[in-house]
Amino acid sequence: MPLTAQEMRELFPITQRYAYLNAASIAPLAGPVRAAIDVYLGRQGEEPFDEAQWWKLREQVRGLVGQLLRVRPETCAFTYSTTAGLSLVAAGLDWHPGDNVVGVHGEYPANIYPWMALEDRGVEFRLYQPVDGRVDPAGLLGRCDGRTRLVAISWVQFWNGFRSDLEAIGRGCRQRDIFLVVDGVQAIGGLDVEVGSLPLDFLAAGAQKWLLGPMGIGVSYVGPRLFEQLRPSTFGTENVVKDHEYFDYDLTLKPTARRFEDGSPNLPGILGLGAALNLLVRAGPARVEAHVLHLAQLLRDELPRRGYQLVAPGVKPAEHSGIVSFRHPRMVPDEVDARLRDARVILSRRGDFLRVSPHYYNNEDDIDRLLEALPA
Ligand SMILES: Cc1ncc(COP(=O)(O)O)c(C=O)c1O
Repeated sequence: MPLTAQEMRELFPITQRYAYLNAASIAPLAGPVRAAIDVYLGRQGEEPFDEAQWWKLREQVRGLVGQLLRVRPETCAFTYSTTAGLSLVAAGLDWHPGDNVVGVHGEYPANIYPWMALEDRGVEFRLYQPVDGRVDPAGLLGRCDGRTRLVAISWVQFWNGFRSDLEAIGRGCRQRDIFLVVDGVQAIGGLDVEVGSLPLDFLAAGAQKWLLGPMGIGVSYVGPRLFEQLRPSTFGTENVVKDHEYFDYDLTLKPTARRFEDGSPNLPGILGLGAALNLLVRAGPARVEAHVLHLAQLLRDELPRRGYQLVAPGVKPAEHSGIVSFRHPRMVPDEVDARLRDARVILSRRGDFLRVSPHYYNNEDDIDRLLEALPA
């Protein structure tokens, strides 16, 4: 039997006190996630370290990552954040002066600075300007030319929740022999994403948002086209085949995405993420997405009726995600946010607007609490 939204809610202690509508920022931890970390910490405190057991569990968590993303687990590497994943690509390709990277204006800095930092290697970083908050695949591809190596884009934009058409963008990239690199942190876990069936070459996400994991752990998917060309940029015993032969130095890299992991893993993070993935897989990604989009739609319908302005009003259903951003017509967002916090309704202020992001543990009562607490 799948885990229902109500059963999920009961696993999140925070839901008893708050209408926590802020998965796009930092998700709360479920009881089982915390328990998985506690068990690990307890064992390490009281028992000799049992490497074989923990390494086996790490690979089970990798299996869950593969299951959620619909990719082979061998194509997934653990990283410590979205930034670390994207930086693997920025640091690991053989750039030539005159190459360029095409990004999107308004992206979160994690998907800007790794590319900007390539400028001192002679790589130009170009920005496509979305029109009315929408990324038009043809417009984005129009920024590419014969020297474009890579397009770097968020699947879902963190500020207005716009979901990009990766199928169209990826197809255009393939035709031009350009890599498509995706910041997936605002999509995976909340939306039902079949990474393996899309024409993308790399995806990075931290666990701390829609994946419901702890901070300091993330996952990256490395597609076959990029795998061939991507060199690890940090090296230690985990990258190599002979990862337990400490005196027989041999830099033969592992044949899987594990070659992008370097030293001792963040086990508490991996195990916490594993418990979170277990919940998401038990719930079923399609059911989670339907619930998230339903709650987000209630807000899209109701906020304008109450005089609030949606930040991305023209976005079509296929472009929706779990993020809805809005403004009060007159009041500054900090003032609205303060009123909401007094009512224990938690969301984020971004720029001159507020951003709400319900997950599977939220329900319609949380949405009502938000709507009731909003000043007229
Ligand atoms: C689109 C996007 N990328 C990345 C991040 C965070 O990156 P990291 O996991 O490196 O902290 C955020 C967080 O707000 C985000 O919205």
